[in-house]
Amino acid sequence: MSKNTKQTARIPEEALTGSLREYRVPEGGHLIERVKNFYGWQNLRREHNLWPYAKSTSSAPRTHTTALTDAGQKLAGVNFASQDYLSLASHDRVKEAGARAIKDYGVHSAGSAALLGNTSGSLALEKEISDFLFGRETILYPTGWSAGFAAVQGLVRPDDHIVMDVLAHSCLQEGARASTQNVHFHGHLNTRAVERRLQRIRANDTKNGILVVTESLFSMHSDTPDIGVLRALCDEYDAQLLVDCAHDFGSIGDAGLGHLGLQNMVDSADVIIGSFSKTFASNGGFISVKDIETSEYLKYYSATQTFSNALSPVQSAVVLEAFKIVRSKEGKDRRLNLMNNVLYMRAEMEKAGLETLGDPSAIVPVRVGAEGLARIASRNLSNLGAIANLVEYPAVPQGGARFRVQVMSDHTTSDIDKLVVLMLQAMKDAEIEYRTYREDENSSIHTPTISMDEPASRAA
Ligand SMILES: Cc1ncc(COP(=O)(O)O)c(C=O)c1O
Repeated sequence: MSKNTKQTARIPEEALTGSLREYRVPEGGHLIERVKNFYGWQNLRREHNLWPYAKSTSSAPRTHTTALTDAGQKLAGVNFASQDYLSLASHDRVKEAGARAIKDYGVHSAGSAALLGNTSGSLALEKEISDFLFGRETILYPTGWSAGFAAVQGLVRPDDHIVMDVLAHSCLQEGARASTQNVHFHGHLNTRAVERRLQRIRANDTKNGILVVTESLFSMHSDTPDIGVLRALCDEYDAQLLVDCAHDFGSIGDAGLGHLGLQNMVDSADVIIGSFSKTFASNGGFISVKDIETSEYLKYYSATQTFSNALSPVQSAVVLEAFKIVRSKEGKDRRLNLMNNVLYMRAEMEKAGLETLGDPSAIVPVRVGAEGLARIASRNLSNLGAIANLVEYPAVPQGGARFRVQVMSDHTTSDIDKLVVLMLQAMKDAEIEYRTYREDENSSIHTPTISMDEPASRAA
């Protein structure tokens, strides 16, 4: 079937309802045939320009960009959909470091880090991260996802327990599922619920391990746990603490240590995992632990380290240069610019009557609500000349669809003004259009209630 779009036709209800969750466990015994219903639903959305995913750019991820939807529609405009928080992906020094690495090493690491995949550049990067975190042991992974998965899978065994925030990232949830059936989800940021689970586990099991898993900045909500309370609970119940700092490491705080730094808790996490893909201009990720015994163990017992090819020399060089900038006065200035942009955007959105969620960070979630309304608003926004990611159930709770606006330090106030005006217009037009569907007596389109009871991102 071709990927056509027909924007003017009345939108069928199925394109405004349903979710990826419905196709996660397809029925039937033929593994290929049974997945095909998904394409039908997806393509219905695509035909009506309501499939905002899998866009491609034809230029660098700068503040203005051009892109193609996966149906081939051209988009151009102000870009708030790229993850390049300190605008380092197009920084001259970072690009030059990548070019130098190609000259010195070629383009490929040609092996897993457990064999001959490390380079002098990747070893220097591990040292740089360890120093930045006040003297830890760091190992690199090909992606942030594989680092998160590896940290859980490398440490947790079937009789152990995991206590995990219900909104923890997919890499952490998948790592947990691969390690043990004893996964205890708790309500988002609810430290009393963490305590109840720890109490219950320790009442029945004093022998096995417990890993408490959280993020320093949850990306769909832009909010943060009280890491000190989690540390104290871990001490009380003999558990270890893992913090995923993918989204704030490098981009938040005076020194760039994210909420771990702001809460003075860098030392309190037994395991820190991070990603380079948000602030450090490259694929890749890391695990940082407190001693060499643990890092050496993980090198051989975390599958994505041992059995996956190491970061390329280009990626290592790019990230190392990005770290140097992050730790310099320029990095500080870029973080300041970023935060000023974020605060300005939140204030302007509020003035315009748009609801922002969570706390100030490079991610500004803007609430839309019902999935159908959000799909129309997202289509409108792209057509008007602004690019921002839509996130909907199951990545966020049902009825809690939102734009996930991603701010960069290089955005200007006029970029932000433009986004606010266009987003307001997109939402207003969407509300009028969506109302016609809701007023249709036969339609079952409704605004579902928000449910925070289940792991939201599991099927995403
Ligand atoms: C909290 C968190 N952890 C890990 C990852 C995975 O990082 P990467 O995209 O670098 O693989 C992400 C990516 O979105 C994330 O949000």
